[in-house]
Amino acid sequence: MSIDLTDPSTAGGVDPELAAFIEGLPKAELHVHLEGTLEPELKMALAERNGIELPEKTVEEIRATYRLESLTAFLTIYYPAMRVLVTADDFHDLALAYLTKARSQGVVHAEMFFDPQAHTSRGVPFDTVISGYRRACITAERELGMTTRLIMCFLRDMQPEYAMATLMEALPYKEWIIAVGLDSDERDNPPSKFAEVFARARQEGFLVTSHCDIDQPGSIDHIRQALHDIGVDRIDHGTNIVEDPTLVDLARQRGIGFTCCPISNEFVTGDMKAGPISDLLRSGVRVTCNSDDPSYFGTYITENFLALAGAADLSTSEVLQLARNAFEVAWLSPTQRDVHLATLDAYAAERGVSLPT
Ligand code: HPA
Ligand code: ZN
Repeated sequence: MSIDLTDPSTAGGVDPELAAFIEGLPKAELHVHLEGTLEPELKMALAERNGIELPEKTVEEIRATYRLESLTAFLTIYYPAMRVLVTADDFHDLALAYLTKARSQGVVHAEMFFDPQAHTSRGVPFDTVISGYRRACITAERELGMTTRLIMCFLRDMQPEYAMATLMEALPYKEWIIAVGLDSDERDNPPSKFAEVFARARQEGFLVTSHCDIDQPGSIDHIRQALHDIGVDRIDHGTNIVEDPTLVDLARQRGIGFTCCPISNEFVTGDMKAGPISDLLRSGVRVTCNSDDPSYFGTYITENFLALAGAADLSTSEVLQLARNAFEVAWLSPTQRDVHLATLDAYAAERGVSLPT
């Protein structure tokens, strides 16, 4: 990448007035993996706290391992890094560090993925994971004035029986989990593999989303399955939908939210996909802008907005639309949604910015 995306004052090359508008925007983050927020400093501290020996001896050495150029390459670094997470306090500290950082970038609502199987598969109890994350959510709601939700993802490269067992394990904690999703390696792991699990999750009252990663073999078929066979409420990434205009129409009609992550796209495909994202935005599909795995990509939500605004030449009104979409498709109560939308609308009105006409 030619632009320093970690420097908000220059990222994306957007004009300073638009950059200031983006920095101050009240935001909803709908696509962030809590395990993807593990900064090298915290990884080091948790390894020490838990007496775990890491091959890397410095923060810089850890950061150097956070290098990736495809989804598969990324995932082979990502999962082993999680072994430093052992106690409920570890999960709490990870989530609270993310929420604190996000709040500093204007995030007032965060919906966060977590991967229980990445922990239960190495002997960490489900209760340890969810209890730590839940405690961080409560703290953020009380002390940072945010609203939060947790989304439980199944690892799609594992067996559907393990996903179903994980769903059963989650039932006593239903009140703490708004939705289920699907992440990890998409190759040969279509949404239909988990049709039964999703149906049961729906019966149990969970909302449903699924990653449809960028430029995967079978991307458009997976998007079709997610919409037609699974009946998802949202799609994570999913911008390959532009390949099929009838699916775009369907997504628009249903008001499906797409949680896009431009800098993640740049890392894993070499292309931010600013074209498809802005085409969808301009055609009235509810696309949103998010950070995905911020510690691995070195950028949080503000940098993603800046990068996308620069690459797609978004107007201030279009940026407002992008931010508004996120609150509209967020899994908030009607009252919470009204409160957040009123805050956003007041922010825009004070600056004389209105939605695109
Ligand atoms: N795609 C699939 N799995 C993931 C991702 C992603 O973007 N981030 C973390 N796990
Ligand atoms: Zn993701």
